[in-house]
Amino acid sequence: MQTLDRIDAVRRLVAGRRRDGVSVALVPTMGNLHEGHLSLVRVARSRAGCVIASVFVNPLQFGPGEDFDRYPRSFARDCELLAAEGVEVVFAPTVAEMYPAGPAQQTLVEVPAFSGMLEGQRRPGHFAGVATVVTKLFNIVAPDAAVFGEKDFQQLAVIRRLVRDLCLPIDIIGAPIVRDPDGLALSSRNQYLSPAERRLAPGLHQALDAARRRVEAGDRSWAAIEAEACAVLEAVGFEPDYVAVRRALDLLPPDGADAAADLVVLGAARLGRTRLIDNLRAG
Ligand code: PAF
Repeated sequence: MQTLDRIDAVRRLVAGRRRDGVSVALVPTMGNLHEGHLSLVRVARSRAGCVIASVFVNPLQFGPGEDFDRYPRSFARDCELLAAEGVEVVFAPTVAEMYPAGPAQQTLVEVPAFSGMLEGQRRPGHFAGVATVVTKLFNIVAPDAAVFGEKDFQQLAVIRRLVRDLCLPIDIIGAPIVRDPDGLALSSRNQYLSPAERRLAPGLHQALDAARRRVEAGDRSWAAIEAEACAVLEAVGFEPDYVAVRRALDLLPPDGADAAADLVVLGAARLGRTRLIDNLRAG
């Protein structure tokens, strides 16, 4: 496995693989890899001859006061894990390589359809940061396909939309959430949890699952379902940001006509200093 930190080196390598007729898949990450990321790599390997993983903690997608500085970094271990999964190239640029004029001067990609709701409402600028770095990675690697986890359900919607709106010829593949046996969705941020918080953390999945069961049982009182899930979260020690039943396609609130639509229950809640997100498809 090669580790590259320069854009021109990645471009040269990809051009060579293309000349050999090899397809390329990209797995963008911020490192500190866990089994969820490795599942993305396995999907990528099943779809392309050459898998490139990026490891870049993107300052542009962190708001003031968020965890950019303390975001866990474990590059040597990440490389071992990626090599063992058959990744051909790790692209790990510096901030200066990605944002030569500095993040504040960077031209931004905005996806307005999804940026003002749910995560976007709570984390202003977050999705512009994600959309911008992902667009840059797409332009650098020019992959045939790219794989993202469904745990960041809204992020996946943002990326599908930007690919459509900017006519990028890239197949976006969503990969299922990987969970611990007690239901907690794997996340790099889970390691911020104290042992006591870790014991409570599956409560987010449980609250969303109870909401999902109500939806699947035909209950259409969205506001009551969401309020009950938030109350359950509070009762077990979370500070909920939101629980929302939405249409999976566009993340808009369902109305009566959507009774049979493909729905998703999304939630975000804090346990101490750690903010967790999760989602479950319903229907
Ligand atoms: O999901 C993530 O880890 C990040 O948001 C991504 C897609 C790698 C962009 O920085």
